[in-house]
Amino acid sequence: MAFPPSFIDELVARNPIEDVVGQYVTLKRSGSNMFGLCPFHGEKTASFSVAPDKGIYYCFGCHKGGGAINFMMELEGLSYPDAVRALAKRAGMEVPEDEQYQSRYRQQERLWALMKEAGRFFHAALYSPEGKECLEYTQKRGLSKSIITRFGIGFAPNSWNSLVTAMKAKGYTDQELIAADLVGEKNGRIYDRFRNRLMFPIIDVRGNVVGFGGRVLDDSKPKYLNSNETVIFNKRKNLFGLNLAKKTKLGYLILVEGNIDVVTMHQYGFDNAVASLGTSLTEEQATLISRYAEQVILLYDGDSAGQKATRRAIPMLEKAGIHVKVLQIPDGMDPDDYLQKFGADRFKMLLDGSTNRVEYQLSAIRGNYDLNIDDQRVKFMQEAADLISSLGSAAQREVYGNRVAEAAKVSFETMKLEIAKAYKRRQNKQRKQQEAIDLAPVKALQPKSRTIRYDNVKSAMAEEGILAQILREPAMLDQAGSLKAEDFSVELLGRVYAQLLDRYKQGLEVSLSVLADMTAEEMNHLSAISQRQTGPVSEASFRDCVRTVQTQHESKSVTSDEDLLAFRNKLKERKGTQQ
Ligand code: GTP
Ligand code: MN
Repeated sequence: MAFPPSFIDELVARNPIEDVVGQYVTLKRSGSNMFGLCPFHGEKTASFSVAPDKGIYYCFGCHKGGGAINFMMELEGLSYPDAVRALAKRAGMEVPEDEQYQSRYRQQERLWALMKEAGRFFHAALYSPEGKECLEYTQKRGLSKSIITRFGIGFAPNSWNSLVTAMKAKGYTDQELIAADLVGEKNGRIYDRFRNRLMFPIIDVRGNVVGFGGRVLDDSKPKYLNSNETVIFNKRKNLFGLNLAKKTKLGYLILVEGNIDVVTMHQYGFDNAVASLGTSLTEEQATLISRYAEQVILLYDGDSAGQKATRRAIPMLEKAGIHVKVLQIPDGMDPDDYLQKFGADRFKMLLDGSTNRVEYQLSAIRGNYDLNIDDQRVKFMQEAADLISSLGSAAQREVYGNRVAEAAKVSFETMKLEIAKAYKRRQNKQRKQQEAIDLAPVKALQPKSRTIRYDNVKSAMAEEGILAQILREPAMLDQAGSLKAEDFSVELLGRVYAQLLDRYKQGLEVSLSVLADMTAEEMNHLSAISQRQTGPVSEASFRDCVRTVQTQHESKSVTSDEDLLAFRNKLKERKGTQQ
């Protein structure tokens, strides 16, 4: 069901990891590894490593890792076969197409084509007689004809079967309409899901229509009906308007709440507006944004929900390496209201006045206290000091410290003491957290991933040791004796062992980058194991690990925490450099 192993071997050999990654990341050599800024999580110091000899990458910051194929999957959001096709193209290789992959790929292509047809259908319906009321609604909302065209906005007729009929006439099946989430299903019959709604196509950065958001034409509820996730639509990884905003010349993006806000802003020349898809901002969206902009202005509604969303979004964007500013429009207006009322020039002035996130947060804190009451002034100072103590730059701490001191009517010296106290509190807290981790060895040794669990940690550590050594020196497999995949306590590690052993016996490449059927999370975990263990490989240590795995398997023993700590220390001593 997969590409032939020998083809994957050649593909990987002809796409050196440092070249593939090097297309996106500037790498500097350091010893046998190369380092650069991680393309997945945005950072200022390089914790993203590439090991040319092992054919893998691994980020010590966000723990993503894998081979060249995984890199293309993660970075370009491709499926496994599409990543293989992209690398084959890069190396000028012919892809042996396999039945099943071909059909899955064809299904995706069919859904993209179907969604595009549906978008065309809705758009045409807007200008048909039955779309009259909807067209009037767009005029009432001030949308110009050209912006309607640019966004491909349309109308879903007030009927149970007009889209179904039109798409079936184009040769699409019930199954495809269901897979695209364009229809509902009852008693074996399908019907149009979107009825009597203004339709916004959601288009990914590659230009494919992947979903729709449909707004009612009046004040009824629910206001929006949105596509659910499908094989071609992942809500966490898309933003409304990014297909257009990614081309902006303005140099930054503006994140707003509503589809209509995005469209109106583009109409008024702010072609850098995007919105998350009716949900709060996700980490994936922050990372996606960081590929197109270094700065974002958060322009959420001024109500409490909007403020909460702003508070959540700030750290997420900053973690992705984005410089964040915050803008709040006065009187609870949203960007759409404001633009329609006051026009682009005044809106531009508002934007220019947007504050950096520290100012925004300070003023939010200040809003919680009545500074005429002594006791509240003290609390204000403490909370502000807490925020300021988290700032990396001394200049920033001084500027904002001064500002708070003035507002609270205390001297800067006093404020400085508060900030220092807050800093100590923060450090204590971090130390306690670290101690809690150190004191819970079972937890500390667990994989970073959420789905891979170690039940028998002692065996799992030995299993990691086995794989790490094989990956560095495949000939170690000669020392494996009677070790079988079933002896492994961790299913994933056993499965990888079996694959590597099989390849070794067949004289094929033994490395992580050629493994088949691994999820991204599994690959991250395996790369972590491989990059972490840098000590020398020795037959004695290898056989020790094999013995541990086999004895643990036979006794099915549960190890105490003390045993574990002792075992881990032993491993550490032996490996010297294991973290
Ligand atoms: P107007 O209120 O007409 O200006 O529309 P808007 O597009 O600006 O939407 P609004 O600011 O009210 O909401 C922000 C976003 O949240 C919308 O664009 C939708 O993506 C989403 N949303 C709003 N209401 C609903 C709802 O009832 N259901 C779902 N699933 N999403 C909604
Ligand atoms: Mn709105």
